[in-house]
Amino acid sequence: MKFFLDTANVEEIKRINELGLVDGVTTNPTIISKEGRDFKEVITEICELIDGPVSAEVIGLDTESMVTEAREIAAWADNVVVKIPMTEEGLCAVHLLSKEGIKTNVTLIFTVAQGLMAAKAGATYISPFVGRLDDIATDSLALIRNLKNVLTTYGFQSEIISASIRSLKHVEEVAGVGSDIATIPGALFPKLWSHPLTDSGIQAFLKDWEAFQK
Ligand code: E4P
Repeated sequence: MKFFLDTANVEEIKRINELGLVDGVTTNPTIISKEGRDFKEVITEICELIDGPVSAEVIGLDTESMVTEAREIAAWADNVVVKIPMTEEGLCAVHLLSKEGIKTNVTLIFTVAQGLMAAKAGATYISPFVGRLDDIATDSLALIRNLKNVLTTYGFQSEIISASIRSLKHVEEVAGVGSDIATIPGALFPKLWSHPLTDSGIQAFLKDWEAFQK
């Protein structure tokens, strides 16, 4: 499974990317607004840092505005991916953009049917929202598992980005049911390699070693 960072914070991206574990980055208007910086400037900076897809979302809601914005965003960098919301107008935009070779990430997916529609429209990536489904007591893991089965059964090339990831358990669970990618907030990423028993184990080994040296 690939790991994307779900942040637009350049310092956070630089730090975690030094480990060689970041395969891409996703953003949304909320994430971008937290940085208080120009949208294009932030996205182009991230695109230079990361050797992988970087998602930047459109704001328009009708097909024409989405396509116009998408063409503009797609020209910012070779590795930029345009995020399009999962609506009828969004599907129409994805269909048009895929014919132009512009990569898309269809976002705010909550059902298998939505994911299937996005894949049929030609989405490069589809983003089901795990945490937001859990918030309304709906089985998010079943969605990822079923989506993966459907896309594989019918030979779609779209990759699943499990989004709205809130915990280490989410990451492990979506990996277990075949998600192609998990996009993970910067604050959660270090939990992937840390464990208190690892830390206490190191301390105990060192203590025993020091006692043996005396
Ligand atoms: C990324 O593609 C999504 O926009 C993001 O993961 C949403 O996360 P949230 O549900 O925690 O806002």
